Amino acid sequence: MTAPLLEVRDLVVRYPARGRRTSPVLAVDRISFTVAAGETLALVGESGSGKSSTAAAVLMLRKPEGGSVRFGGRELTTVEEPELRTLRRGFQPVFQDPYGSLSPRKTVFDAVAEPLRVQCRWDSATGPARVAELLDLVHLDRSVVRRLPHELSGGQCQRVGIARALASEPRLLVLDEPVSALDPSVRAGVINLFTELQDSLGLAQLFICHDLALVRHVAHRVAVLHRGRIVESGPARQVCDAPTHDYTRELLSSVPDPDRLTAR
Ligand SMILES: Nc1ncnc2c1ncn2[C@@H]1O[C@H](COP(=O)(O)OP(=O)(O)O)[C@@H](O)[C@H]1O
Ligand SMILES: [Mg+2]
Repeated sequence: MTAPLLEVRDLVVRYPARGRRTSPVLAVDRISFTVAAGETLALVGESGSGKSSTAAAVLMLRKPEGGSVRFGGRELTTVEEPELRTLRRGFQPVFQDPYGSLSPRKTVFDAVAEPLRVQCRWDSATGPARVAELLDLVHLDRSVVRRLPHELSGGQCQRVGIARALASEPRLLVLDEPVSALDPSVRAGVINLFTELQDSLGLAQLFICHDLALVRHVAHRVAVLHRGRIVESGPARQVCDAPTHDYTRELLSSVPDPDRLTAR
């Protein structure tokens, strides 16, 4: 069997006591999971269950207190800059807040060109065509290239963020509630885009979300997070249709049915 693309073992994230908080917060308590190449694993749980802490640790934006994160067989927790910077191209984030992820003074063109420039992969002859190609991939009309974030809708902004992530040609996207802040009318379109990109580019996805009903449409497997621990995991259909844990049943009963989604 080939090794998984992402392998997380016994991950621990703890926030120290600080200020008025007199005891540390154990946000992620020894969780383990894997994501295979081309696979979507959904990490689901209510607010405060440790989803974003897990994402930050996987992305090495916050060094985990314990455990191991292997990407493509490489242990990330002990890697130093600048190697980490190079490895990071392989796993790219998309966050919840579409406007917050973009610089307010950068046009769409500059936002999408930036990762190429930073990675010294910018060439004035081919760069603009690559930007156009990335905008096509996320179904953004090329007419938006001169616009600033405040001249875009939330859905368009999120697509710019996705194009930026794709500029690095990653093998894994870490999506932390990527549609939660979007208007319900554009959510399905962005969700379908993730599924489409996965099929066309063979991307793996760690799809973080609090909506278990949505997960059934986007994920191959699901892990349910509750107070920093994985309480149930398995194939998406199995977990959504026949949950074995009370907490999973609660999550399922508290969410509306999503419409206009492409079924897996
Ligand atoms: N920077 C931080 N400092 C202290 N505690 C934090 C911090 N970020 C998150 N937490 C706490 O860690 C727990 C998990 O939070 P988080 O990972 O953001 O959950 P989720 O993304 O599932 O809502 C919560 O109790 C939260 O209050
Ligand atoms: Mg969160």
